[in-house]
Amino acid sequence: KRTIYLTRHGESEHNLKGLIGGDADLSVRGKLYAEALAEFIKEQNIEGLRVWTSWLKRTIQTVAEVKAPQERWKALNEIDAGICEEMTYEEIQKKHPDDFRARDQNKFSYRYPRGESYEDVVVRLEPVMMELERQGNVLVVSHQAVLRCVLAYFLDKPASELPYLKVPLHTVIKLTPVAYGFSSESTLFNE
Ligand code: G3H
Repeated sequence: KRTIYLTRHGESEHNLKGLIGGDADLSVRGKLYAEALAEFIKEQNIEGLRVWTSWLKRTIQTVAEVKAPQERWKALNEIDAGICEEMTYEEIQKKHPDDFRARDQNKFSYRYPRGESYEDVVVRLEPVMMELERQGNVLVVSHQAVLRCVLAYFLDKPASELPYLKVPLHTVIKLTPVAYGFSSESTLFNE
């Protein structure tokens, strides 16, 4: 029986400022999560564990101390917010009010100008999901929007719910196969 562990990167400098996207380093608190995560993974003694991250610094830094073979997937990068990259939601609402409203009305299908929609992310994740299905124990370290897509896939959630699934920072979501599909269990860290 195999287990899939999902986590977002530790808190980043951009998270602290409320900026979306970009490629920021971990914050001090984010680095503490990275240490706690490495300790947690070590304690679990997971057979043949492999670690998959995105290409972004914050996911790579999150598993810097995890002792297991690591692979980087560009397809695990965060949703591309296009013209809204590295803005706060308040800024987006002010500078691109029509986009802000359109996204609120159909968050799954809305595509950021020169960026992506959740639907686009689901499509680019297909090869990752195919490979993940064939693997044993894997720790996937990615981003909020991407992990919502991964969770929806394994927990069979509809597109309408997908963009609102809860994937908090500093939490490990453990997915284990059950009779039909997967069951999920979350561990929240204090860091
Ligand atoms: O920066 C992107 C966020 O992780 C996605 O959050 O789709 O709720 O805006 P959102």
